[in-house]
Amino acid sequence: MWWQLVAATALLSAARAVDRNNFKTCQQSSFCRRCRAVQEGRSPYKLLLDTLQADANSVHAHVVNTENSVLFTFQLYALTDDTFRFKINELSPLRPRYTVSQHVLDREPRLARLEVTERTPDYVVVTAGPNKVQLFGAPFRLDFYSHGTLVVSANARGLMRFEHLRSKPQQKEGEEGAADAAAPSQDAADTDPGAWEENFKSFHDTKEFGPEAVALDFSFVGAHRAYGIPEHADSFALKSTKNTDPYRLYNLDVFEYELHNPMALYGSIPFLVGHGEGHTAGVLWLNAAETWVDIANTVDQNVVSSIVSFVSGAASSPQVDAHFMSESGIVDVFVMLGPAPHDVFRQYTAVAGTTPLPQYFSIGYHQCRWNYNDQDDVRQVHGKFDEHDIPVDAIWLDIEHTDNKKYFTWDKVKFPDPTDMVHNLTAKGRKLVLIVDPHIKRDSNYFLHNDAESNGFYVKTKDGKDFEGWCWPGSSSYLDMFNPAVRQYYASRYRLDNFHGTTNDVHIWNDMNEPSVFSGPEVTMNKDCVHHGGWEHRDVHNVNGFMLNMASYEGLLERSNGKLRPFLLTRAFFVGSHRYTSVWTGDNMAEWGHLKITIPMCLSLSIAGFSFCGADVGGFFKNPDPELFVRWYQAGAFQPFFRTHSHIDTKRREPWLFDENTMSLIREAIRKRYSYLPYLYTLFYELETSGRPVMLPLWAEFPAETPTFDMDDQYLLGRSLLVHPVTDAGASTVSVYLPGADTLWYAVDSHQKYVGGGTVQIPVTMSSVPVFQRGGSILAKRERVRRAAILTLDDPFTLVVAVDRNNSASGTLYIDDGESFEYRKGKHLYLSFVFDGKKLTSRSLDAGQLPSRTWLERVVVLGWSSGAASALVESRSVGRVTVETTYDQASQTLTVRKPGVSMAEEWTVSLQ
Ligand SMILES: *[C@@H]1O[C@H](CO)[C@@H](O)[C@H](O)[C@H]1NC(C)=O
Ligand SMILES: *[C@@H]1O[C@H](CO)[C@@H](O)[C@H](O)[C@H]1NC(C)=O
Repeated sequence: MWWQLVAATALLSAARAVDRNNFKTCQQSSFCRRCRAVQEGRSPYKLLLDTLQADANSVHAHVVNTENSVLFTFQLYALTDDTFRFKINELSPLRPRYTVSQHVLDREPRLARLEVTERTPDYVVVTAGPNKVQLFGAPFRLDFYSHGTLVVSANARGLMRFEHLRSKPQQKEGEEGAADAAAPSQDAADTDPGAWEENFKSFHDTKEFGPEAVALDFSFVGAHRAYGIPEHADSFALKSTKNTDPYRLYNLDVFEYELHNPMALYGSIPFLVGHGEGHTAGVLWLNAAETWVDIANTVDQNVVSSIVSFVSGAASSPQVDAHFMSESGIVDVFVMLGPAPHDVFRQYTAVAGTTPLPQYFSIGYHQCRWNYNDQDDVRQVHGKFDEHDIPVDAIWLDIEHTDNKKYFTWDKVKFPDPTDMVHNLTAKGRKLVLIVDPHIKRDSNYFLHNDAESNGFYVKTKDGKDFEGWCWPGSSSYLDMFNPAVRQYYASRYRLDNFHGTTNDVHIWNDMNEPSVFSGPEVTMNKDCVHHGGWEHRDVHNVNGFMLNMASYEGLLERSNGKLRPFLLTRAFFVGSHRYTSVWTGDNMAEWGHLKITIPMCLSLSIAGFSFCGADVGGFFKNPDPELFVRWYQAGAFQPFFRTHSHIDTKRREPWLFDENTMSLIREAIRKRYSYLPYLYTLFYELETSGRPVMLPLWAEFPAETPTFDMDDQYLLGRSLLVHPVTDAGASTVSVYLPGADTLWYAVDSHQKYVGGGTVQIPVTMSSVPVFQRGGSILAKRERVRRAAILTLDDPFTLVVAVDRNNSASGTLYIDDGESFEYRKGKHLYLSFVFDGKKLTSRSLDAGQLPSRTWLERVVVLGWSSGAASALVESRSVGRVTVETTYDQASQTLTVRKPGVSMAEEWTVSLQ
């Protein structure tokens, strides 16, 4: 069969690019075509202001489509933290329309008070705290104001479209298609030949419920750029789609994806951030159906927008316009009003949830390959890491570890003794990560298939049969994770007594969860398949992978009775996936362009709540040359998730298989990563508690610096490190933009000081990783090399104090047991360090306590210009002691040796 051919081709790592013909364009998608054809400035939708009623937290009213008199409900809610939400649904739909909020919001958003403060025949003003919304009747439009400034407007361009559910037109004898039989309407939903059925290549989509698209436009007033809506292999700042397809959000397994285009990839987060010099705002379009997003940027086009000139008269104000178009579902929108970037990030996580602190090992280095062949191979690989003194925290096994791609089983010939294999890893402080894919082999000797089939646990076809598709195991079916009983069943598969050969030190990788179906349209499931609750796959496609991750997470949590933090990796994702799993950017290639794109791809995910992001180091397809490989390790070492992975047909690429020099450069990069783990872990703690992304665009900290708006080659790791990895072959210098005219930056290796506010040329060698510590920051490192991250938990710290122009600095450090949830009960240390130019002070930021043996080994002060100094250390355990210091005049670095204080006590170090 042809799809076996596709699968076979997929195995050959051919150097060709993606076959675009396998994926739809907007023109080939009937709803996208219809929505995109809506003309600006002629919106038929009218908000019936005389129906508007208010209660303490919301207003509701009817909206009418004046062309066909169909009525809709409109609700607007004020939420806490400067956020509004509005929903539009049919007043009386023929069948309920799917609302994804029921599946992805772990709690109802917290409501705030609002008041109707003005009512006129043309508009109503609703006020909530410092914000207001002006609701216009005809045409329907919503203007969102933050502290008196208009920042977001919905339907300003009049591109709203809400296709009400309708009865299928009767087909007359001898007529083909539904188009001619339709009522005498001019609406595209009645005339489009793709409205009631649609073909793509050899695939037929029976659209039983007909046209049901929803679309709406948003203008970000004052915004220079828009960011977000991952996942695309494109620049961080979204491009105008005037001459291309819109950005597409439809979770797909795209074989050998191409760079710099708006094509869909594995995951979808329909969250957009508009950013300008003076203001940042966000819009979450909470819809799980296939979605396309047009972007227009007035800065580039030099077009004066009607809305801006109408409202503020500021004709030169920049603006970004977005147009969301989804195939089904309802309009459910959150508008986050900022005003600063960090406000928007926090407001988003208030709705979508925050990322729970990961286990310490999981921010270490991961060694993966398709495949480590057998248990001897695994033993040799981690043995070699020891032989070469390279830290590694986990060895990963891809699909070949199973008995014929039956997940939760082992190939008994290659892995006769998995328990012993795991034990050998954990004896060295390491973990095993196993792949568990969602396709279930249809094999009557497979317990999972038998259970699923007999319990009716599989996703159904439109005719009510078990859906069958082709994937790695051959003929496969797919568990329906929308059924709570299926999730419960699936979660219990991870129990240690159910999953032979696993322990609490075995973690899980959910791949292929778009879902990938080799034999399906666009390599995924048919849209007319049916899930629990009667939802078509069309309605829920983009949240499918999320549901699987949610069940896996529950399973991993339950297997330790809720004690240990689960670690998961996913390929597909949706709004909220970050609550359960880490993510990587899928099947990339060993090319310089793919190394470069890791930065904008992970930044897009980060600002959309998903910080725990990385890319396959070295590239999944093809073989990296030593230079690319080293540069990729150096870049990956400063990204939140750090894993190498490679295709089965590539050459083996464990570091020691390269020449001595290459291997030592890789070792150096990995060790550098480990030295920063305390800082990175602190960032993850602060991600959970404050919603601040781990990887940040420069404009998050320097919002008015326009040169940062289009940057794809550098970013901030937390607030204190600026990272500009070398991503060009043969580079001898890199141009680094250091923001902040008042800000000092210190190269972390040479301690050389730079003043921000411009671009500097930094010479580089093969061992250079251009990273700069921000003046005014203090961060913690651990500099002893060990086999794995958890073996360093009792090791002492080095504090690097980088002073600002006032000779002061501050920072934080978070420590706990690295694996359990005890930290939430106060078993942790969260410390604040303040340096005032003379004295460095450590204090607890909360009441947390940890019986910790860690101590302070070293304080390094960067930018210390007053020459040699003596250091007086004071604490309960050491009393008052003077300790040795050294001073390096050339780099203006003062090092205080062995203050010796415990991290669990309050202390000071005074310099004189
Ligand atoms: C575990 O380690 C021991 C000692 O090195 C070795 O003999 C044994 O083969 C290992 N077991 C597995 C399954 O790798
Ligand atoms: C230095 O201190 C002054 C006065 O407190 C303050 O206004 C300024 O922002 C500080 N500069 C830096 C770089 O922190």
